Amino acid sequence: SSPNTIIVNGKEFETDSEKTNVPQNILKLTDKALHLKASHPIGILRTLIENKLNSDDHAFEVYNNFKPAVSVFENFDSLGFPKDHVGRSKSDTYYINKDHLLRTHTSAHEMFCFGNIQKKITDKPGYLISADVYRRDEIDKTHYPAFHQMEGARLWPKTEAGQKQLKKDISVLETKLNQIKNFTVIDMPYKEETNPKQKHMTKEEVQLVSTHLKRTIELIVAEVFNKKLASEGKTNEEIKSRWIEAYFPWTAPSWEIEVWWKGEWLELCGCGVVREQVLTNAGMGTNEKIGWAFGLGLDRVAMLLFDIPDIRLFWTDDQRFHEQFKENTISSFKPYSKYPGTIRDISFWVNNSIDIHENDLMEIVRNTAGDLVESVKLIDDFVHPKTGRRSLCYRINYQSMDRNITNEEINNLQDTVRANLVEQYKIELR
Ligand code: PHE
Repeated sequence: SSPNTIIVNGKEFETDSEKTNVPQNILKLTDKALHLKASHPIGILRTLIENKLNSDDHAFEVYNNFKPAVSVFENFDSLGFPKDHVGRSKSDTYYINKDHLLRTHTSAHEMFCFGNIQKKITDKPGYLISADVYRRDEIDKTHYPAFHQMEGARLWPKTEAGQKQLKKDISVLETKLNQIKNFTVIDMPYKEETNPKQKHMTKEEVQLVSTHLKRTIELIVAEVFNKKLASEGKTNEEIKSRWIEAYFPWTAPSWEIEVWWKGEWLELCGCGVVREQVLTNAGMGTNEKIGWAFGLGLDRVAMLLFDIPDIRLFWTDDQRFHEQFKENTISSFKPYSKYPGTIRDISFWVNNSIDIHENDLMEIVRNTAGDLVESVKLIDDFVHPKTGRRSLCYRINYQSMDRNITNEEINNLQDTVRANLVEQYKIELR
């Protein structure tokens, strides 16, 4: 390919000097499709949730092969993201060119999947999408620039018959939940002032759709965490979760569910009542359908389900990782070795005329050291009282999960990081 194009999943894209910021080491990840591997923790979890949701009425069409290169329109505009939303910035998102990017969430495919319902390409009232998503982010044990989400959605006709069906569907879910004895949910009554509904929907419609949504998510949470408890022989333990209000440009009202796990609230899933504009963008008429959508992060949940201490392990080729997992089975990962980490600090004076975003620094480190970097942390940030110059110090922990890294190797990496920072951001090393 010529220097002015890049290949993403075999497809060629023009690049442009202004927007393109997706590096080779990220492009390499787009062919991995870990969620499709039946005996990979991400694939095992994906299958578990999929099977649970489709267990009796098969209401969800399943899409697991969408490629990560999508249009800016699909990822942001079709969902009503404002033009100045931070998610659109180059410091947060990997752009292929000005019109295409690596999807930042599976919601990028909502328009297409709702369109398939509208065009009767599927006769199912709902869908599930699992896929790899990409965000420029910090570097630590639970953050990686690629991760996985499962999106779900379900619609009903905005008619009397639709409402009747919806009520029936809710009672099925409630019967199932009532059989689970060790699961409690903290929820508050719906508050329109802080979590507005859409004008075209009645209060009762919002109540019904959100009840079906919440019971669906609660069933997933109970299923997943009960599987974990069962794998440890602790079936009597309590599972506690809570609903909190949230905001997403394409749902209203919106919520998030959190689960109490090992002493903290873990955020699992954002969701809400689909905004009409998303449905009309997909070709539906106004006042035709109502429904919900959710987006669930798979990686953090898989980490705690399989006791995986570092998110990078998902991406390793090391057989000592992969041979530990089996289809449809939750098991506890046994670390195969611990290679010592090496800490190196980098301090510099920021160049006041060149903006450096923390994610830019993360990217330079990652482009240089790849998965040999375990974490990058800001440990000092001060402004010199006389000169007004700002100084930053970052601590890089180099540590491989698969092998020993030599001092010489680390020195070379650190020198390259330093040189790249000087070259690209004109900083002054200290
Ligand atoms: N896409 C959202 C996220 O990545 C999650 C979401 C999906 C919220 C669908 C609402 C509806 O955080």
